[in-house]
Amino acid sequence: MLPFVIGVCAVLVGVVKSSHYGIQHHPPSPHSAVEAPPLPHAPFSAPIVSRTSRRASKTHALHSLRAGKSYTVPVVGADYDYEYLTNITIGGQSFLVIVDTGSSDTWLAQKGFSCFNLTGAPEPTSTCAFGSDGFDTKLSKSFQWYPNTTFALEYGDGESLTGSAAFETVSIDGLTVKDQEIGVVSKASWVGDGINTGLLGLAYPWLTSITNSQGRKLQYNPFFFNAVKQKQVSSYFSLALNRGTANGMRSPGIDPHLGYLAFGGIAQVPVTSNRVTVPIQGYSIATRAPTSSRHPTYFYYTVDVQEYVFPNSSGVATASNSTIIDSGTTLNLVPTEVARAYNAAFNATWRSGSYYVDCKAEAPPFAVVLRGKTFTIDPRDQVVYAGTDENGDAVCMSGTQDGGPQTMGSVFILGDVFLHNVVTTFDIQRNQITFTQRKYY
Ligand SMILES: *[C@@H]1O[C@H](CO)[C@@H](O)[C@H](O)[C@H]1NC(C)=O
Ligand SMILES: *[C@@H]1O[C@H](CO)[C@@H](O)[C@H](O)[C@H]1NC(C)=O
Ligand SMILES: *[C@@H]1O[C@H](CO)[C@@H](O)[C@H](O)[C@H]1NC(C)=O
Ligand SMILES: *[C@@H]1O[C@H](CO)[C@@H](O)[C@H](O)[C@H]1NC(C)=O
Ligand SMILES: *[C@@H]1O[C@H](CO)[C@@H](O)[C@H](O)[C@H]1NC(C)=O
Ligand SMILES: *[C@@H]1O[C@H](CO)[C@@H](O)[C@H](O)[C@H]1NC(C)=O
Repeated sequence: MLPFVIGVCAVLVGVVKSSHYGIQHHPPSPHSAVEAPPLPHAPFSAPIVSRTSRRASKTHALHSLRAGKSYTVPVVGADYDYEYLTNITIGGQSFLVIVDTGSSDTWLAQKGFSCFNLTGAPEPTSTCAFGSDGFDTKLSKSFQWYPNTTFALEYGDGESLTGSAAFETVSIDGLTVKDQEIGVVSKASWVGDGINTGLLGLAYPWLTSITNSQGRKLQYNPFFFNAVKQKQVSSYFSLALNRGTANGMRSPGIDPHLGYLAFGGIAQVPVTSNRVTVPIQGYSIATRAPTSSRHPTYFYYTVDVQEYVFPNSSGVATASNSTIIDSGTTLNLVPTEVARAYNAAFNATWRSGSYYVDCKAEAPPFAVVLRGKTFTIDPRDQVVYAGTDENGDAVCMSGTQDGGPQTMGSVFILGDVFLHNVVTTFDIQRNQITFTQRKYY
């Protein structure tokens, strides 16, 4: 999910936002194959306990939202009904939250929150469909309000969250950060999944969403940045996101074996020797343009894709610089020409701004080249179940969708469809990402 303005959102909005800022590509370093050093094993490893299927109503809302947009990035649609969750403990209370490398705040719905629909009319709290009654600040011994501040996030589809900011003790699988800024959401316009109660944001501090009473942003260190700063853990976190089973994808509820979020090293799943380390693109805060200066600002986990490889790709310009690695987005959002050529090989049909495929289709091969190394995507990941139609028949989308034209300032997304195939290890000190191809599973 990507933040809107300074918020969290599913997908597209971030693209629009970045374009608005006129982010342009500046190469951080030449494209050449580099040997990545071995990564340390992670001392902390939280299971990804669940991927949940979003409600059908949301699916339809998302699809209609995407129609006719020139930037087809499915903002909230980008969730495309699946999210990876992990168990987090805040102030002694445990919740399942969305694991999101595309935003930076960690927030929970507060007990007693008010729910609104997407146009702001009050609704019963059940409409927001959080997975619990919410965080009870009164039961926490470590809770402290962050005085005279506001927490506010906005999503591209109209979802929004507002409330207060606080300092809390946050822990995941034994990795504990004290005095962590969190968002405590008292008003939510949210279409939840009945399972998650909030979100864990893993991206850079610049994207955080706390403001003071004058409306000035008070940037802070997100959870993992504080964990590193407090010397709890080395500067790596790593994600291994399993593709769900067919049943897990089609039924709501908890699917318990969906991989790992590891801190301090690489997530331990079987991997091949194919790996590469690429720089994260830094930007100039003044111009919002990419820069190779020594002290750039980092926003998202943005990398350069050297090439996409698929049947007939040789005639297509497939480089896609400024591509965000986003666990909070299900689909890949690639340049228009890439999506068009790949989906032609897939016999996909284009409807309301998205490519749809036969649920039984055998996806053509698709690979992502990063700094000279080729990472394949399993064909199973390219057929994404998206709900049922009026007749109750399964509807599937292509895993690789149109993310808009390749122009100055455009940004694209590699989502879970890609991330199922690699272990992705983020190094927030060296500002680089190591991709390691997983063994077949
Ligand atoms: C992407 O960046 C590389 C250098 O890192 C450059 O050679 C290439 O032209 C860029 N591609 C696009 C589509 O901007
Ligand atoms: C999260 O973990 C805690 C501690 O292990 C456990 O008590 C709790 O039931 C888990 N919560 C969820 C929602 O899975
Ligand atoms: C929100 O509720 C109001 C009042 O019931 C209704 O008019 C409006 O259409 C609803 N909006 C959405 C997006 O459901
Ligand atoms: C918060 O704002 C109130 C009213 O403006 C002020 O009296 C108080 O000192 C402020 N608190 C802090 C900690 O800044
Ligand atoms: C490749 O392109 C050629 C010429 O445009 C076309 O005839 C052929 O069907 C394409 N192959 C695939 C797999 O899309
Ligand atoms: C697409 O359609 C062509 C012609 O019917 C067929 O040969 C090919 O196998 C189909 N490809 C996929 C991925 O379904």
